[in-house]
Order: sequence, then C-alpha cells, then structure tokens
Amino acid sequence: MQLPSGLLHYTTPLGAQYSGDSRLLLQELTAGSVDLFVTSPPFPLLRPKEYGNPDQDTYVAWLLEFLRPAHRALKPDGSLVVDIGGAYQRGLPVRSLHQFRLLLACTDRLGFHLAQDFYWHNPSRLPTPAQWVTKRKIRAKDTVTPIWWLSKTPHPKADTRGVKTPYSASMRRLLADPRRHFAPGPRPSGHTVSAAFDADQGGALPANLLTMPNSASNDAYQRSCRNRGIRPHPAR
Ligand SMILES: C[S@@+](CC[C@H](N)C(=O)[O-])C[C@H]1O[C@@H](n2cnc3c(N)ncnc32)[C@H](O)[C@@H]1O
Repeated sequence: MQLPSGLLHYTTPLGAQYSGDSRLLLQELTAGSVDLFVTSPPFPLLRPKEYGNPDQDTYVAWLLEFLRPAHRALKPDGSLVVDIGGAYQRGLPVRSLHQFRLLLACTDRLGFHLAQDFYWHNPSRLPTPAQWVTKRKIRAKDTVTPIWWLSKTPHPKADTRGVKTPYSASMRRLLADPRRHFAPGPRPSGHTVSAAFDADQGGALPANLLTMPNSASNDAYQRSCRNRGIRPHPAR
C-alpha cells in the first residue's frame, strides 16, 4: 500500500495507523488486497456529536462513498463489518430506516452478501429520546445496535472456533457430569439433541448477540486517556 507519508500516524511490528479522510485513503488500497474492514461510521443522529453527523435523507449515498472503494479493496473472501446505530425521525416516535436502507443498498447496488446480522446489546444505554421513553413512556429503551457482516461471496473466510465464549454454569455442570444432567433424544421443539453435545469443546459456540456495556468509568481506555491528558472519544 502506497499512502502519503504525512498521513502516517504510527507504526508497530503489527502494522501502521494512518489518519485522514478514509474516503480518500480507501482509494489508495490495492484492489482485492484486504481481508477485513471493521467500521463504526457516524450515524444520522438527531443530536449530532462533536465530530459531525450526516442527515437521514442523504445517509446512504454518503456512506456508499466509503463502502464502494472498500468493496473494491476487499479480497474475494474478505468481509466488511459495519456497526450502524439507529435513530428516531425528527419529532416523531417513529424510527429512521437508514440501517435497513443501507443494508439493501450494499446488497443490491454494491453486490455484497449479508453473511450474518449481529446485534450489540448495550445494557447501559441512556433512555432516549426522553420525550418518548421517559416522559410519555410510549417507547421502550433502545439498547441494541445492528452490526452488518457483509461479504463479497457467500463463503467469506471465517472460523468461529477462534471466538468461543465461556460456557454457562449449567453447561459446566453438564460437562462435569453428563449422565446426570444430559439425556440425548428428541426435545419438545422437534429437534433431536445428540450425545455430541456433552463433549467439552473448550468453550461455547458464539452467538450473534454481543452484550457489552460501554459505561465503565475506570477501564483501560479511560485510565490511559487520563494518564496522557487526552479527552476520551464521545463514541468509544
Ligand atoms: C461513531 S464514531 C466511531 C468511533 C470509533 N468507535 C472510535 O473509537 O474511533 C465515528 C467516527 O468516524 C470519524 N469520521 C467521520 N468522517 C470521517 C471520514 N471521512 N474519514 C475518517 N473518519 C471519519 C469521526 O471523527 C468519528 O470519530
């Protein structure tokens, strides 16, 4: 990759960080060279953050300026993972459809496949907009953000064995004493559960619901910002 050296922020043995308008930086990438993009772009929020937020009407066209060169730069088995927050329409207890319009534009216009939809569940999200959620109490608290995993082909490079999750307490009991806690055979759901379930795989299969609060006030990121006198990012 040949990028203007003025945009180079720092390097480590693992790679380099460049800072700049990613619409331009993405164009510099060699076609078909990238395994994975992970991005959380600005969302069309009604209450803009200090870094600026595009509006709902022009959102998809604006974001395609980034995703088109990203698609070109991806390897055939590469993936693009994009986290897209939701928003209400101005003045109405009605949701904006930009997350879904973006997904359809990526599949129908850029040729991406939806490899899988993930959801970030943030239990500590504030109950906004106050008008609908806390004052009039006509809408539930919004705590879930979709994450679209897009791929160039139906078979992007993937292996969930690298992201197993800890077993639940009941699964640990089952693994410790399968005869007592596990009976293979048909379940009321119509599924037949086989004995293979009792083998310890070193962790559980990961799910597409990622539960992570972002309100910790003394985590490694916050401490590091404090130690260096840096203001934490408003959308960490
Ligand atoms: C929702 S925030 C995500 C921040 C991310 N979680 C992080 O920790 O860096 C969106 C970010 O995109 C940045 N941004 C907006 N337009 C951009 C552009 N054209 N090129 C690169 N970054 C941009 C904003 O400055 C903001 O930091």
